[in-house]
Amino acid sequence: MSDRQAVHDFIERNRARFQAELFEFLRIPSVSAVTESKTDTRRAAEWVADQLRSAGLEVSVHDTPGHPIVLGEWRGAGEAAPTVLIYGHYDVQPAEPLELWTTPPFEPTVRNGRIYARGSVDDKGQLFLHVKSLEAHLAVNGKLPVNVVIIAEGEEEVGSENLMPFVRQHRERLACDAIVISDTGMVGPGLPTIGASLRGLTYMQINVTGPAQDLHSGSYGGAVLNPATALARIIASFHDDHEHITIEGFYDDVDPAPLFRENMKRVPHDDAGFLEETGSPAVWGEHGYSTVERLWLRPTCEVNGLLSGYTAEGSKTVLPAKAMAKVSCRLVPDQDPKQIARLFEAHVRKVAPAGVTVTIDEMHGGRPWRARLEGRLVEAGAAALKFAWGKDVIYAGEGGSIPIVPEFEEVLGAPAILLGFGLPGENAHAPDEWFSVENFELGTSAMAQLLFELAS
Ligand code: BES
Ligand code: MN
Ligand code: MN
Repeated sequence: MSDRQAVHDFIERNRARFQAELFEFLRIPSVSAVTESKTDTRRAAEWVADQLRSAGLEVSVHDTPGHPIVLGEWRGAGEAAPTVLIYGHYDVQPAEPLELWTTPPFEPTVRNGRIYARGSVDDKGQLFLHVKSLEAHLAVNGKLPVNVVIIAEGEEEVGSENLMPFVRQHRERLACDAIVISDTGMVGPGLPTIGASLRGLTYMQINVTGPAQDLHSGSYGGAVLNPATALARIIASFHDDHEHITIEGFYDDVDPAPLFRENMKRVPHDDAGFLEETGSPAVWGEHGYSTVERLWLRPTCEVNGLLSGYTAEGSKTVLPAKAMAKVSCRLVPDQDPKQIARLFEAHVRKVAPAGVTVTIDEMHGGRPWRARLEGRLVEAGAAALKFAWGKDVIYAGEGGSIPIVPEFEEVLGAPAILLGFGLPGENAHAPDEWFSVENFELGTSAMAQLLFELAS
């Protein structure tokens, strides 16, 4: 039997155990956003470290001012062999609102061929399948076809702020020929996909204050500016009637990327399925662009959170003292997150009505990214996916952000490839997040094959 087949068979034989182990991982509530989770994020890091150690890698856990970084290394393929860097994240988004989950977020359950749990697809399941593909090689052949460095971080969902300096500090140790990431999705079931782009991000908070404290809206209403009204005006000013963003200079660096646009037209998409997936009554967006173009080719400016005044039961006649909005812009090449933050701030200052005080906090950001869709790495990725799915790969854009991807490429000087196994409707960041059992298995097998491909 060929080595390739033997590794594949090992993965098939061990699928029940792999799933049981993934469930252990999913039971750890490693939410990076909240301080109470500190011990759980560490527990998740140590859990990944133990897994990598038992698979046969050299493992180190690196403390940061935030959550730990886990590094696994196997360099037995020799200096002449390529080195592959695999990246994933063990942190997850908060699970709230808990009451909307069919089964509890940290008690993984299988229903209809789907593993339901927070982090199942984003990104524990997709990180773990790489760990299992390494284990399969080492168990069957006692070696890997290439040198491997695997990094698991615990702060992806909060902007990877400590991973960026870590990568710069350890650039020699992390030197590699290719960067492999499974933290994206496929365009549909049975349609293996290579990610062609990621959007970047600029995240801001707008604080509006008016009177020194809440006021009786009868005694004072109509005579002082309501901070909620002021904030609503600011937010309403972000788009014009064509849903085009009005921030001056916002589109200056947007690359129209005609070739990319042309290629993305070939990706299967229908708005009816998209509406079903979202539950939204209609599609919406910048005039002159299709849904797919709006998602992969165009930047956004969106409210992520809004807070002001009385929101509990019944009514209360009050003029709130303050209002707050969290706003983020998704960016496309070649927009720069810092520059967009400056333009955003200038815009808010310009439109902010007199009569309130407005302050802006700049939160995290990340650069946009576009893949090179040719060369040895992409060929290897396509071949590995074809081995598992028996189908030709589709190249599709992604609307989300993985801020470390462009940083990796720049600092390490190697190309990255996005090989993701999520599916439309997977509910990442939402209640009832799930990961397809089939994709977990096929993804493990495909990523094991990828290492063979990259060796030759
Ligand atoms: N896995 C996602 C990125 C992603 C989302 C890729 C959708 C493709 C499609 C990642 O975990 C994520 O959620 N990233 C954040 C980054 C942010 C917090 C800096 C995002 O996109 O909001
Ligand atoms: Mn992710
Ligand atoms: Mn995420």
